[in-house]
Amino acid sequence: MHRKFLIAGNWKMSNGIADSVSLVDVIKSRTSKILSIDMLVCPPFTALDAARKAAAGSLLRIGAQNMYHESKGAFTGEVSYSMLRDCNISHVILGHSERRTIFGESDELINKKVCAALGNSLLPILCIGETEAEREKNQTFTVIEAQLEKCLRGVSNEQAENLVIAYEPVWAIGTGKTATPEIAQEAHSFVREQLAKIFNEKLANSVRILYGGSMKAANAEALLNQPDIDGGLIGGASLIADEFCSIIGTADKLSL
Ligand code: PGA
Repeated sequence: MHRKFLIAGNWKMSNGIADSVSLVDVIKSRTSKILSIDMLVCPPFTALDAARKAAAGSLLRIGAQNMYHESKGAFTGEVSYSMLRDCNISHVILGHSERRTIFGESDELINKKVCAALGNSLLPILCIGETEAEREKNQTFTVIEAQLEKCLRGVSNEQAENLVIAYEPVWAIGTGKTATPEIAQEAHSFVREQLAKIFNEKLANSVRILYGGSMKAANAEALLNQPDIDGGLIGGASLIADEFCSIIGTADKLSL
């Protein structure tokens, strides 16, 4: 089964409007000949509109890093899926480990967000992954299994066609400690098995599973060469045009 690579940048709380537009401009010009993979960057909310306008006319897509599952109402400080649609945003990262640990998001809340995104033509990138303590206690697979089961409750087979999963071991995020290609592949293949149980095998084989956690130009090829790794969700290295474009170039090369 051929799955198109998706290389996605998670800018987190970096880049205001001017920096977002200039980074989009550089990525856009350096990737103008890349046709074989999907490319996405996720700036902060305040720069979404400007980034989308800067990316217009290219294949670079713009996504958000979070959203709320209600359309509107008394939810001070939140941004709804309809507001993202209003900005012509295509993708949204949901359940990132920083949302889970710093902002206390539960699997139940993330599930509501995943369902709201899928029901409203936004493509969710659902993040899952174990902490270092959970890995040391050999709980990696039970944690991933529970996160998938709870976060994907109520998602239909038809909706799941638009799903992207990001396996991001928490101990590898922003630490420089990348999972080895073997460790990552083992987890990705387990995720795919779970997707086959929740949905079906055909669907599981079509859903893209991205790796996230200190991915950079130097380790991208070894990771992307693994059979169940279908791209990357890249934090730190996505803020550096040379690094991010090099990862895109690697994915493009591996696709040909
Ligand atoms: P990192 O972040 O690439 O800086 O480790 C990845 C992420 O948090 O999505």
